[in-house]
Amino acid sequence: MKGKLITFEGCDGCGKSTQLKILSDFLQSGGIPHIFTREPGGGKISEAIRGVLLDGKNAEMSDECEALLYAAARAQHINDRIAPALREGKLVVCDRYVDSSFAYQAYARGLGMEFVAKINAFALEEYLPDLTFFIDLSPEDAFQRKHGADENDRLEQAGLAFHKKVYEGYLALAKQYPDRFVVLNGKDSIDGIALAVQSALKQRGCI
Ligand code: ADP
Ligand code: TYD
Repeated sequence: MKGKLITFEGCDGCGKSTQLKILSDFLQSGGIPHIFTREPGGGKISEAIRGVLLDGKNAEMSDECEALLYAAARAQHINDRIAPALREGKLVVCDRYVDSSFAYQAYARGLGMEFVAKINAFALEEYLPDLTFFIDLSPEDAFQRKHGADENDRLEQAGLAFHKKVYEGYLALAKQYPDRFVVLNGKDSIDGIALAVQSALKQRGCI
């Protein structure tokens, strides 16, 4: 694997889309070979699995099924897009990846790290992130920005208590993997966070 795999993580509404758009423009203008992709999704089959996972009509889905579907979508996504782009030496920027499964399924759903790590080891093979940006914004602050939950989104309906656990999960992951995680203060200005992302990418030799 020649390229680098960069992932963005954080609670819903932390500012990921905003930062990914700015990074996209930055990489484009610098002529840096890259792809942008997202999870769950990133390919025909993975996007179909995304549809099942995020459908508000599937509220009765078991936690185990949910975790396995995220891992299944990831396995297909790696096969379809991530591995080929890395082989070509491209920078792969992914909106959410395996740490979302650790924060949401292992910590917040309570499935535990062992089970979630095990099913994901099978899906990931050697495709671990080289660098993970965690936009640190509490769910209370993120929800305030978004003016409440989207009624059609099954995961946002899970409520504040769930999202607080997700947040705790991310903080624990950042502590557990200090070399891989770059923690960005989500309360900083949009431009300030964008500059921190660009300088971390340069410092780590990713661009
Ligand atoms: P996400 O993709 O994580 O759900 P968004 O990028 O859509 O989050 O941001 C959610 C909202 O917060 C948007 O209205 C966006 O304009 C605003 N926002 C994003 N980053 C910041 C920031 N650093 N400071 C203030 N508001 C922000
Ligand atoms: P999305 O609308 O893409 O959320 P966001 O804009 O906040 O990234 O929905 C993705 C949802 O899926 C989000 O709530 C997090 C959740 N998710 C998991 O629970 N586990 C995972 O492994 C992944 C990749 C996402």
